[in-house]
This record gives sequence, C-alpha cells and structure tokens, in this order.
Amino acid sequence: MRRGVQILILFCLSCYQTLTYAAYPPPISGHRGMVVSGHYLASKVGIDILKQGGNAIDAAVAVGYALAVVYPYAGNIGGDGFMLIHLAQGNNIFINFRGTAPLKATKNMFLDDKGKVIPNRSFIGYQAVAVPGTVLGLNTALQKYGTLPLATIMAPAIKLAEQGFKLTKVDADILHLATDDFKKQPNVASIFLYKGSPYRPGQVLVQSQLAATLKLIAAQGSKAFYQGSIADKIVKSSQQHGGILTKQDFINYKIEELSPVICHYKSYNIISAPPPSSGGTTLCELLNIIEPYHLEQMGFHSANSIHYLVEAMRYAYYDRNNKLGDPNFINNPVKQLISKRHAAKIRKKIDDLFITPSYKLAGVMEHQSANTTHYSIIDRSGNAVAVTYSLNNSFGARVIAGNTGFFLNDEMDDFTIKLGHPNIFGLVQGDNNKIEPGKRPLSSMTPTMVMTKNNEPFLILGSPGGATIITAILQTIINVMDYSMDLKTAVDMPRIHFQWLPDMIWCEPYSISADTHKRLKHMGYRMHYAENPLGVVEAIMVDPTGPIYLGASDDRIPLGRAIGY
Ligand code: DON
Repeated sequence: MRRGVQILILFCLSCYQTLTYAAYPPPISGHRGMVVSGHYLASKVGIDILKQGGNAIDAAVAVGYALAVVYPYAGNIGGDGFMLIHLAQGNNIFINFRGTAPLKATKNMFLDDKGKVIPNRSFIGYQAVAVPGTVLGLNTALQKYGTLPLATIMAPAIKLAEQGFKLTKVDADILHLATDDFKKQPNVASIFLYKGSPYRPGQVLVQSQLAATLKLIAAQGSKAFYQGSIADKIVKSSQQHGGILTKQDFINYKIEELSPVICHYKSYNIISAPPPSSGGTTLCELLNIIEPYHLEQMGFHSANSIHYLVEAMRYAYYDRNNKLGDPNFINNPVKQLISKRHAAKIRKKIDDLFITPSYKLAGVMEHQSANTTHYSIIDRSGNAVAVTYSLNNSFGARVIAGNTGFFLNDEMDDFTIKLGHPNIFGLVQGDNNKIEPGKRPLSSMTPTMVMTKNNEPFLILGSPGGATIITAILQTIINVMDYSMDLKTAVDMPRIHFQWLPDMIWCEPYSISADTHKRLKHMGYRMHYAENPLGVVEAIMVDPTGPIYLGASDDRIPLGRAIGY
C-alpha cells in the first residue's frame, strides 16, 4: 500500500477513536426547552408556546389540543388519559382524566343472552364509548398550573383545523387504515375522505367542524363540552345509534388529582401512574424484580437477560391483570406490589434456566397498532410534563357525533368484558376490573419520570401500545440505566414484550438472534414475531453534566419529532 494512503487510513481511524459512533442518530438537544411528541406539527406548537414564555404545562395543553387536530388517529378531545407534572419547585402531581363507564353500563353489556361476547361491540360504535375526560383534564391542568389563557393555548390547534395542514405520506397512510369505516358514515367521510376516496400525500386536510368545536371550548371552557351543546350532540348521536350515554354522564364527569406511584431503582426515584392506571405499579414491580440481576453483564438481549426480563414480566402482569382496578371501586394492593419484599419473593421462584409456565395458555394477542400517543415536555425552569392520552383503538370507536368533528373513544374495551376473554390487547383480566357505572377501566398508560435523588427529572417518557406500554418504558429505562445507551439508541433499540397470558414472547424484528431464539426455545419459550411496534416511546433526558435537554422521538412511527431550543 502506498505510504500516503496508509497515513490517511491511520489518520481516519484515529478520528473514529475520538468520536463516539452509534448505529442511531444522536438525540436532539436544547438548552431552554424540549418537546417530544408523536406528530411534528404538534411538537412545533409546543415549542412555540415555550418560546412565547409559556411553561411546560401551557405547552402540554397546547400540544394536547394540536394532536387532536393533526393526529386524529390517537390525539383527541373525545378520549382520555393521564398527565404527570413535575413542578420546578418540587411538587409531583398526577392528573387522572381517565374516562368513566356511563351510568347505564352493566357488567355484562357486551355479552349476548347466552353469555357470549358480542363481536366488536366493545370497540366499535357507541356502546364502546366511555365518558371522555381529555377536555376537563387539559383545561384543569392549564387553570391550576399553566400561565397563559385557554384561548391563546388553543389558537394553534384551531388554526391547524381551520386552515388545514398538508398531509405527509405517513399521515395519509394512517388515515387510510380506516377508509372502510369512514365510508360507512357520511359525517365521517365528509371530513376524512376526499370526495369519497382516501386522502393522498400533499393534499390539505381541513377540519372546519372540529375548528368550530374547539372555538366553543376556547370561548366557554370545559362547560361547552360537559354541560353545553357538545355533550348534547354526543348524547343525541349515542341514543340514535344504540349507545347508552346520557347528559348526566357528562355533568357528573370529574377528573382527579392523585399522588404518583413512587419507587426506587438503583440510585434513582421513579414516579409514575397510579391506579386506575396499572402502569406505575407494574413498572415498579418489574424494576424491583430485575434490579439485582446485572443485565449489563449478561449482554443486551442475550438469552439470559431475556429470560429474567420475561419471568419478571410474567409475575408482574399476573399481578396487574388480577389485582388492579379503579381505586374508587376496589382496594389496590399497590404498596405490597411495589415493595422490595414482594420482588424478592418472586425472584426466589424464578429458575435460572427454565421458564415458569403461565398456568394455562389462553387468549391471543390480536392485531394492535399505536393508537394512543405520548408526549414529553420540559421548560427552561425545569417544569416537566408527561402526557399519555388515548382513543384506545385507532380512531377510537370510529364514530363522530353529528357535526362535532372529532372521534369518540372505545375505552370500554379496557374493562374485563368477560372473565377469561382477552381484550384487543390480549389482556386477560379479572373481576376487579369488571364494568360498573361510573367506574374507570384499568389502563396501561404510563407517563413516567425518572428522578434524581434531588427530585429533578432525569428521564421523562411514555408510550402508546396498550399492554406493551409498560414493557416499552421498562426497556427504555434499562437501556439507559443498565446498558448506558444514549437516549435515541435506547428508544429505537428493538424490544420484546410478555404479559403472562398468552404465554409467549412478542419480538420485534432483529430483537433476538437465531441462536438466542434457539436457546430460548430450549428453555421452554414460545416466540411470536410482532407485526406492529411494541410501543412508540417519546422521551427526554436531562444531561446531568449540562443542564442540557436531550430529546428522542421513536422512529417506529416516523411522524413524531423532538424539538429543542
Ligand atoms: O388505557 C389503556 O391501557 C389503553 N386504552 C391504551 C391503548 C393504547 O395504547 C393503544 N395503542 N396501541
């Protein structure tokens, strides 16, 4: 080799040694604020609010309304969710705006005379609709913890609805998922189809009816939704189409402010979603079980590390599915489930080499795609917000009441509609989560923050994905904390999922190698290669050497964006 070329190669190799190279692009950085959401236009709305001097709560409410316009698949005002807030002065607050079962709901409402589940009824059409909580949740958060007027916060969403926005290919593909259902209802088709056909990339989606609904909320506040004409229209449509919603359901609807679930992992504190979410409790139980296992020494997705993760998931999801429910109706043994003692007892039962079969194989985890959405925000003062909100299935129950312009949720399917019967996420749940009037269905939505010992945010994260939400968050946390991955890599690395029943590991493409697969099979595992992403994580990290904010939007759905400034 010629000497010049040799020198060049040596020079280049030394360059490589001074930089760190990763298989994934680096996270986005910002010094004064960061917004990471599932749609780039909503992230932009959030960052603009921060730049105008709004705080993280202002931005969170603005992003919530913007997603309801630009991401009708999951963004919503007809759904529900949870907001976790860390105020820079120290308080950690959890706002529960989960939907409630209508007053006329009954335990067996989705069963026929013979006790059989009526196909689709718990997730398509008006019976599937829980009383929506999003509007009261967002508006209350703004009133109590925000700084800007509701009209200012909602203005960008109204503009996006009124003037429309250009659809990317991903936007158009997502809309196309429900073309057949859109065609069945003229009021839906008139908005989400273009002259009866699916929208194409580059076309502009205008939502004037939604704009009018949003304007009403901006002018009159939550009253317009729960006491005024919006509730009236929903109730009327529900009654016309076999639903059970009444005006009283809307008048009665309340949100709650709860204390987050808190646990400790390594030298950090985890704050996360309490019941009626199963998220924080299950996440803490999982972290407690795996804490002593030294996953980093076993290697990322080695057969051993997957074995311990999956066994932990088996026990934690058993507890989740059987012991948790709406705390206004049942006692949740959260303290016991998140205790280090409970985790130690479980570890004693975990064999180092063989699986513990889930007592019987039941249920099939059906097709699921990401139809909830999560966003994470931090502002220059260190106020942080994590919001996960949802319509449940994509485009919810796939119905829009009259000319309101927004989809209603199908959260009723999150209840145990029949013992032993898996819901759309394959979750086989117990009696604690049975349907009762006014009750909130058990959720997996898990807005979470990992806090330093000084109660400052280190990670702010969450995900859609039904049952896979909790395991997606778990794996992102351990990718950062145990495997020392940078944030973007931690978010994008392939994931696995296990949920007690059915007794099989869901694997994303490239999540396990052929020889790992073989070893796991030998240990007794069954593997299923997932067609849909196992969670879509939107995360922020506060670099302790900064303070610099790092943001990572999960590329499993390439519409999301981290924007910092
Ligand atoms: O609250 C829950 O657990 C579900 N309604 C969340 C649904 C969801 O994440 C859908 N995304 N795949």
